[in-house]
Amino acid sequence: MASNPASRESFSSKFGIIAAVAGSAIGLGNIWRFPYVLGENGGGAFLLLYLFFVVVIGVPVMISEFLIGRKARLNIFGAFKLLAPGKPWYLVGVMGVGVAFMILAFYSVVAGWTLHYVFLAATNHLTGKGPAEIVQVFETLKVNLWIPVFWTLLFLALSAFIVRSGIKKGIEKYTKILMPVLFVIILLLDIRAITLDGASEGLAFLFSPDFSSINGRVVLEALGQAFFSLSIGMGVLATYGSYIRKSDSLGGTALTVSLADTMIAVLAGVAIFPAAFAFGLEPNQGPGLVFVTLPNIFNQMAGGYIFALLFFVLLSIAALTSSISLLEVVVAYFVEQLKMTRKVATWVATGIMAFFGILCALYSKLFGAFDFVSSNIILPLGGFFVVIFVGFVLGNKSAREEMEADGKRARYFVPFMFIVKFVAPIAIALVFLNGLGLLNFLFQ
Ligand code: PHE
Repeated sequence: MASNPASRESFSSKFGIIAAVAGSAIGLGNIWRFPYVLGENGGGAFLLLYLFFVVVIGVPVMISEFLIGRKARLNIFGAFKLLAPGKPWYLVGVMGVGVAFMILAFYSVVAGWTLHYVFLAATNHLTGKGPAEIVQVFETLKVNLWIPVFWTLLFLALSAFIVRSGIKKGIEKYTKILMPVLFVIILLLDIRAITLDGASEGLAFLFSPDFSSINGRVVLEALGQAFFSLSIGMGVLATYGSYIRKSDSLGGTALTVSLADTMIAVLAGVAIFPAAFAFGLEPNQGPGLVFVTLPNIFNQMAGGYIFALLFFVLLSIAALTSSISLLEVVVAYFVEQLKMTRKVATWVATGIMAFFGILCALYSKLFGAFDFVSSNIILPLGGFFVVIFVGFVLGNKSAREEMEADGKRARYFVPFMFIVKFVAPIAIALVFLNGLGLLNFLFQ
């Protein structure tokens, strides 16, 4: 297969790359998923495990994906075909495309809830309500089924609209401004949250680790959350990597984005848990957590109406900049492998996603299964294959060449390859088998 022409689109600036990749990484995973999964898995100890996985596995996997994408300048399926011709590695690409459908299905439902909350905030349906009433508002979403379906479809249509028109002039331009605004709003929410009466209990839940809550499943969930939040393990970042110019640094991008992503997750936790404890809400109530804790904080703030509105608008945007990256994996595949036009590819992909999205909106069991299986099983598996591929199929020479394509010596190359070849795959395999209970025999 011929290498891809240099005429292929690429990001236009260093900041543009960071904005796009951070746009993918920072999303509902940080503000919705991180707090609820942490809440269900005992708090502080989960946070430590999560941070550990981001550093030791997340960053190296992210760089590895960039390497694969930029070397091939192709979609994830085409990249494996090009770099390992005649070998079954392209199946990892198939898995990536498949899981993009699965993730976007439940992701668009949560993004739909977020849009619904924009509407509620704008029409002043959140302010002035007590904690019990706010819980009720979220519960209504589950009873009134057509409401989530409507917002899910609207969200998917918005994502399709952006992906269809390419990336540079749309999302790259706006994320550069909007991401910093989101950051400032979260900081303001944090300040309000930690000055609430009873905030300390929430902070203790988040920051003082209770190791008795750790078991194989919790470790696996922390790994899955790290993968999900960094958008790694399924080809999103290989696809984005294929748009990174040779003159840009892959390691620097990965470090900056991982740091920003982790910071937003921790800041979201700092906003949510003090509020949950202060208002007598359970930290382990699952996917509704953000939607029932934050409106309570808004109600305690001067200008709560405007903050609620701004927050949900920005969260919708954060969700959008992530969902387009998921959609882009499928669209790049359809365009380059199946020779569809970008427009047709976008609508076909969105149509299939809408189908699964509606199913997830209607059946919370399916929603939960997609959420759990994609993050905790498929992404780590994908990450495992990605590092093995870079470590042993691309190998030292080829990987170094791509890493140093910007003309600078990659001083961290040797430790990077050591992690990629040994530490990351072994760690992923152990966490994975242990999490699924397959190592129990060792302890009997
Ligand atoms: N990282 C995104 C978020 O945190 C979600 C995502 C997962 C995006 C996997 C792409 C791939 O919201």
